[in-house]
Amino acid sequence: MTDVPELRPKRVFIKTYGCQMNVYDSDRMADALAPHGYEPTLAMDDADLVVLNTCHIREKASEKVFSELGRLGQLRAEGRHFMIGVAGCVAQAEGEEIARRAKGRVDLVFGPQSYHRLPELIARAGRGEVVVETEFPEEDKFEHLPAARREVTVARGLTAFLTVQEGCDKFCSFCVVPYTRGAETSRPVEQVLAEARNLVDAGVRELTLLGQNVNAWHGLDSKGRTVGLGELCARLAELPGLARIRYTTSHPSDMTDELLEAHRDNPKLMPYLHLPVQSGSDAILKAMNRRHSRADYLRIIERIKAARPDMAMSGDFIVGFPGETDADFAETLSIVREVGYASAYTFKYSVRPGTPGATMSDQVPEAVKAERLAELNELISAGIRDFGRSVVGRTLDVLIEKPGRQPGQLGGRSPYLQAVHMAGPERLIGSVQQVEIVSARNNSIEGKIVTPAEPRTASFIESQVALA
Ligand code: 5AD
Ligand code: SF4
Repeated sequence: MTDVPELRPKRVFIKTYGCQMNVYDSDRMADALAPHGYEPTLAMDDADLVVLNTCHIREKASEKVFSELGRLGQLRAEGRHFMIGVAGCVAQAEGEEIARRAKGRVDLVFGPQSYHRLPELIARAGRGEVVVETEFPEEDKFEHLPAARREVTVARGLTAFLTVQEGCDKFCSFCVVPYTRGAETSRPVEQVLAEARNLVDAGVRELTLLGQNVNAWHGLDSKGRTVGLGELCARLAELPGLARIRYTTSHPSDMTDELLEAHRDNPKLMPYLHLPVQSGSDAILKAMNRRHSRADYLRIIERIKAARPDMAMSGDFIVGFPGETDADFAETLSIVREVGYASAYTFKYSVRPGTPGATMSDQVPEAVKAERLAELNELISAGIRDFGRSVVGRTLDVLIEKPGRQPGQLGGRSPYLQAVHMAGPERLIGSVQQVEIVSARNNSIEGKIVTPAEPRTASFIESQVALA
């Protein structure tokens, strides 16, 4: 990289909006800047460079950027000197528009495919140019993004995200992702393994593989074969220090046999799957261009549970998509009851310019959306409480992550991402323990450590399902 800023300590404040992929990207931006003398700061007031890593998925998320830019502009007007960058999906979608609307308040606007070029972009902005970089470059950014220093990874904790796939070819009619993140791309096996090895060497015990459509991942291995996500998880499971593998987020039509078999055969793959359905109504699924019916989705879940009986489900739901009637919404409520989600995310439909949904007739009034969202949330919360209670009496593997609030207490996560509290010594942090669950609260469960855990065998899983 040429023309990079001179080497003197500077501070960067990165504010992350939106999904886990943005969380990952923010860390990678910090990693890209570290060799150029930038240290992360948690205080915006302290920063030489402020980066807003933005989200475009719903209108509210996207509008936040402009209000934040207004606030930052005010600080600059008061005499504070710092550079302002806008990254992420709003930058990608509205690069020139941001530069125009936030004239004098923004120094650089750059999309997710340009993060490896950040030092060079800063240098250009430092010469007074307003930089807008939203092209999809030829080179693979992952080949150019430096790995985090070991101590930085250690400080980030025992669990880590690893983006393996970006973009989406599905074109659901409500969604901006295919436009902002572009076509589906998969990182090759060896590149993913190298990054995973670095993370695991620095003490990471749990990896969550990320992608907008992660189960569509198909990458080349070192022999030039194309392999699927199940095979990638098998290769990752060979890393001795790695205890757990997760992946998110998935599309129902990409739940291949190969991936189902991985859930059956790979004990490091957690029995918890985020599989959005969006709606329980066939008419709405069709209008959403989801390419699967309600029955298809339920059949997939049946097959997943046949492969891994202790699997718990998570999902995303949109209420108030154009044309959604009371009867359609009732179908969404009924699919929630039928599946029994361990967790779920719910959204009011948000009109996104440029997507087919935006020009559909029969837009649902805001008040109706709000009513439906409240009803759905109530049902889902009750389901989550039921799920919490259903693990009482079971013995779960818990990754011990941190000291608890009280002395002698530990905090960890169950395979189902539930927060678990238990008594135990701090030396257990970083290990996976078997914990007998004794009670459930609204947002956490409590248990007692019974024995150190080994990788689960099929017979252990069966015994747990019998108990559930
Ligand atoms: N309005 C509301 N929710 C949306 N999502 C995506 N686009 C929209 C939209 N226009 C939700 C979907 C998706 C999740 C990441 O965000 O449920 O699965
Ligand atoms: Fe958006 Fe997911 Fe549909 Fe792709 S599959 S268009 S990312 S909702």
